[in-house]
Amino acid sequence: MLLSTLLFAALADAIPQGGGGNGFTMLRFGCAQVVVDRIDPLVNPGQAPSPHMHQVVGGNAFNVTMESTDISKLASCTTCGYSEDLSNYWTANVYFKARNGTYKRVPQIPNRDLFQDKYTGKTNGGFVVYYVSPGKGKVTAFKPGFRMLVGDATNRVSKNLKMQTCFRCYNAPNFGGDNAAPCADAKLDTEGFPKTACPGGIRSNILYPTCWDGKNLDSPDHKAHVAYPKAGPASFSGTSTGGDCPSTHPVKIPQLMLEIVWDTRQFNNKADWPADGSQPFVLSTGDNTGFGQHGDYVFGWKDDSLQKAMDDAKGCMGASCGSLKTQQPADGNSCNVKARVNEDHDGWMKQLPGMDGMPM
Ligand SMILES: *[C@@H]1O[C@H](CO)[C@@H](O)[C@H](O)[C@H]1NC(C)=O
Ligand SMILES: *[C@@H]1O[C@H](CO)[C@@H](O)[C@H](O)[C@H]1NC(C)=O
Repeated sequence: MLLSTLLFAALADAIPQGGGGNGFTMLRFGCAQVVVDRIDPLVNPGQAPSPHMHQVVGGNAFNVTMESTDISKLASCTTCGYSEDLSNYWTANVYFKARNGTYKRVPQIPNRDLFQDKYTGKTNGGFVVYYVSPGKGKVTAFKPGFRMLVGDATNRVSKNLKMQTCFRCYNAPNFGGDNAAPCADAKLDTEGFPKTACPGGIRSNILYPTCWDGKNLDSPDHKAHVAYPKAGPASFSGTSTGGDCPSTHPVKIPQLMLEIVWDTRQFNNKADWPADGSQPFVLSTGDNTGFGQHGDYVFGWKDDSLQKAMDDAKGCMGASCGSLKTQQPADGNSCNVKARVNEDHDGWMKQLPGMDGMPM
């Protein structure tokens, strides 16, 4: 009880008083795993296997190749609490590298329920998705065919972009230390992997750009058509989703954020950590710094459902919003896509999938 009270207080700090008032909207909803697979229709369309493993949530139109089209018309189910959201969201996986050099995939656990949500806490794996709007008429929802990428899978150094992607080191069980807004905790949030064991596991937050060029649904690097506000990446706050957009990207889009809970608790035995005391976690790209954290997005909300939510007159918080349709956890958990690449990703492995012979 105490923890959720604290968390609510923290969120209330980050959002206007009486959250959901004044048209401020923060959709927050769980999406179960739709598949864990080594494909990437955005960066490596047509490749099965693609270079590294991903964990994916959302609609069942997820595929080796996905045209820039209205995927809400191709999918027949979704793993997300809002049943009109047939989008796909995916990130790299996290693995534990034991002292003996073998790897084990770190499982994901559902986040907690907040704001009368009865879905998020019951999802099978997966993660939480947020969409934020400062108020009615303030953001333009994504168009069918829209997609984007945040982060750089090849990066291994700090770019001072902690407000773009970060890790939170939960300092106690049950999401302990969840006080500041995402990526805003000076101590518990880091741009790279936490250097010490986290008693409650590790959370990833990935915040997408909030400005759009108003024309292109995609771009060759999947990034150039979107931008952060002039002041750079920012956590959501009451009055804005990060301030003014640059003139090249004048259209404010909803602030999209992914929040993933990696259950590292079973890997906290220091005797299994590297002998030099360094941290043992590695992204499926082979990245043991965490600076290469990235997230992919293919928009797929039905019709104008997302715009309606962003423009709700009173404002919405959490997993229910006006006339938006929702579903039961069992429905979301039963929506799956069959993995296209037939390989082990859950046993103890000598190599990360796709990383054979790569210097680590
Ligand atoms: C995935 O793509 C293949 C090849 O285009 C197609 O045959 C298959 O039906 C697609 N699967 C889904 C779930 O859309
Ligand atoms: C490597 O270490 C892990 C963690 O202690 C253990 O579970 C696994 O069986 C070991 N594998 C080998 C091949 O020794």
